[in-house]
Amino acid sequence: MGKVIKLFFTVILFPKVLRKVIPMKVKVEGKTLDIRAVWLENADRGIVKMIDQRKLPWKFEIFTSQTYLDTAMAIKEMIVRGAPTIGATAAYGVYQAAIETLESKDFIQALKEKIEILRKTRPTAVNLFNATEEMLQEAIKLHNEKRKKQEIKYELMKKAEAIANREVEANKKIGEFGAKLIRDNSGVLTHCNAGALAAVDIGTALAPIRTAYYEGKKFVVYVDETRPWLQGARLTAWELEMEEIPYYLISDNAAGFFMWKGEINIVIVGADRIALNGDVANKIGTYKLAVIAKENGIPFYVAAPLSTFDRQLDSGEKIPIEERSGDEIIYVRGIDKDNKMNRVRIAPKKAKTRNPVFDITPSKYISGIITEVGILRGSADMRKVLRGQ
Ligand code: MRU
Repeated sequence: MGKVIKLFFTVILFPKVLRKVIPMKVKVEGKTLDIRAVWLENADRGIVKMIDQRKLPWKFEIFTSQTYLDTAMAIKEMIVRGAPTIGATAAYGVYQAAIETLESKDFIQALKEKIEILRKTRPTAVNLFNATEEMLQEAIKLHNEKRKKQEIKYELMKKAEAIANREVEANKKIGEFGAKLIRDNSGVLTHCNAGALAAVDIGTALAPIRTAYYEGKKFVVYVDETRPWLQGARLTAWELEMEEIPYYLISDNAAGFFMWKGEINIVIVGADRIALNGDVANKIGTYKLAVIAKENGIPFYVAAPLSTFDRQLDSGEKIPIEERSGDEIIYVRGIDKDNKMNRVRIAPKKAKTRNPVFDITPSKYISGIITEVGILRGSADMRKVLRGQ
């Protein structure tokens, strides 16, 4: 953002606009695009568009999904990623599946089979299961009410849009609650990418950061590179740069050092699934950060909407953890001197690998969970809020 515009936001419109979180603005070839991570482009035909996150920050490309199978592939191959974005994308996928299924003899059975394919794409982010279940229940309700096919189609489209919009509204609130935790002249550590790309728009962990920044607070974000998929180096750094929010990109191994030195004063991360006892599944490496934060007396917050809570699981031990191909560890991707995307090998070809891509942080390490209804501290708070839902 230009200096004059920033001044306008930080001084002239203060404090009205400053409390609002600014949605993602992508700058491509001199143009500013008001864009989400995923959106329904053509409602009638069920065309879904998404930013191709595999190619950032090197190339800005939009992937077009014509069918629910394209959408399932996009989630599996991480064209889209991040729990709330996965949930919204899957909701659009169910809408696409419904369009294909409306004429089937047994609409609900045929829809369930397609939803199963969407659900098999990635196991950890609970938003995938919550959103597809919500869509299925809506379809069953409309079917039982004997609604006309075109009405069912229209209502399911509205439901998918509502799921995506609800994430964005939740993020705005998370931004407001979380910004209060960020002190002037502080260092904020974040891990992975829990920004607009991961959460339809604005972000979860990045929402308090964006809000505090537009409130005029002075702080610097420490961005973990987040091996092996490099969500921090590629995506969070890209998002912060768009907003001109000051950041340092650091290697995953450096966070402890900066905590010990007193340069990092708060940690805010996202979540993929939260159990009822407050245990959190998030990107691999989160657990290590939480333990070091506690050792150094640094508050450790998780920012997540209620759609990331698993109401069926009482403990983090039962959260399924995705293991991906070892190639993600053996090879590093980037662009070469000719601007071509390429990968280079950094380990013996036959190196045996383990690549769990999430870990569990026990609730005892977590200072609070920043949600759209406030900051929840401990499992009693959580049960109260979730039961009231
Ligand atoms: O494997 P990814 O990139 O989908 O993992 C993403 C994360 O772990 C994020 O921290 C989490 O989904 C929160 S996104 C708002």
